Amino acid sequence: MSNTVIKIENLSKSYLLKHQQTERYSTLSETLVKKTRSVFNSKNSSNKTVEEFWALNDVSFDVKQGERVGIIGRNGAGKSTLLKILSRIVAPTKGRITIDGRVASLLEVGTGFHPELSGRENIFLNGSILGMNKQEIQRKFDEIVAFSEVERFLDTPVKRYSSGMYVRLAFAVAAHLEPEILIVDEVLAVGDAEFQRKCLGKMKDVSGEGRTVLFVSHNMAAIQNLCDKAVYMKRGEVQMIGDSEKVISTYLKGSSANAEMNLADRNDRSGNSAIRFSSVELKDTSGNILAAFQSGKDAVLNLKFDRIKGKEIKNLHIAVAFDDEFGQRISHMNNEITNEIFNSIPDDCNEVEVHIPRFPFKHGLYTFSLYATVNGELADWLNEAGTIDVESGDFYNTGKQLPDGQGKFLFQYNFKLPSKF
Ligand SMILES: Nc1ncnc2c1ncn2[C@@H]1O[C@H](COP(=O)(O)OP(=O)(O)OP(=O)(O)O)[C@@H](O)[C@H]1O
Ligand SMILES: [Mg+2]
Repeated sequence: MSNTVIKIENLSKSYLLKHQQTERYSTLSETLVKKTRSVFNSKNSSNKTVEEFWALNDVSFDVKQGERVGIIGRNGAGKSTLLKILSRIVAPTKGRITIDGRVASLLEVGTGFHPELSGRENIFLNGSILGMNKQEIQRKFDEIVAFSEVERFLDTPVKRYSSGMYVRLAFAVAAHLEPEILIVDEVLAVGDAEFQRKCLGKMKDVSGEGRTVLFVSHNMAAIQNLCDKAVYMKRGEVQMIGDSEKVISTYLKGSSANAEMNLADRNDRSGNSAIRFSSVELKDTSGNILAAFQSGKDAVLNLKFDRIKGKEIKNLHIAVAFDDEFGQRISHMNNEITNEIFNSIPDDCNEVEVHIPRFPFKHGLYTFSLYATVNGELADWLNEAGTIDVESGDFYNTGKQLPDGQGKFLFQYNFKLPSKF
């Protein structure tokens, strides 16, 4: 079609993962696991293996001029990889992309700007990369500075900027230098709520001028508000593409259908399998299975596991960690901290329950990871084992809600005058 500005055809990207080497994407728990393993397996720790991993697998779709396309999917689905290929920062392994127009991208902090140059110099540098001459950039300069609100720091090298300032300027540059195609990864999450709103508004304006916007975010409200079309990615593949409302609802259902999450088939796990988590269910205190927890309602997380027949399970230590939709760790439950390690588990028992009084998270989608050791050895560790949907509830029994933008966590407190009054 004549007005197609981005054509993605059978795009795939593979990475070679070298195991037992320092990896870029390691979390604290991963490091702990590796350390634990190296203590127990010190003899065979030298066998390095290389695994081919497909971050994108046969992705095809078109974007038309002026469309605002949202890209959604769980952590690791391949969203950023796709944007990096479209911004020509990373080369595809297979397939091809055809782009008709100048692209400005705002990816992770660290791309696009030269750290040693000042904010002012970076504005000119980026403009010239986009093919603008000095006068054209000069014309846009004041607008960029006003939007970014970093005027006082214009002559400071950007390496001294806070991440919020950096993103403000980077967004202002990308959005104002008249690219034909604007690509934004969720770096906006770094800015405060007001700046995020301003950016969403600007992206709407940009597309109103006939320019095309591609936007990755875990904030479904922002995607719904900005994008007419959405692409749902799952494990490197396009799962669904279409009207954003429908795609978002499929994505959220797909995630909460995990409420009875079957984990038995997951291979991306570590441990000696003395126990192996097999499924997770959300329940209420009467034992009814739930699709979602509700803020303020007593909740039970039921963890089922497979075990080696006839083998005793001693000293079962379990941890469950929760992350929000931006991948920020929210909290962590751990029976070692509460002095509730199970000294031994009856032979016919293959489940444990975590009782959580008055579930303390605000509405949203949370990812959790599971970790277990038996007798001091890592038994099973599953990163991003599943997601938990939390619906709004009356945590304070007042019928009132904590406003959005005021954090994720709800806790009990009381306002009082000091006792002497
Ligand atoms: N340079 C790299 N080397 C090895 N693996 C990589 C590299 N870059 C990305 N990956 C892997 O590719 C997969 C897709 O990563 P990507 O960053 O595209 O995910 P994403 O959908 O943007 O996730 P998130 O929502 O967490 O930002 C992940 O499993 C990631 O670990
Ligand atoms: Mg990403």
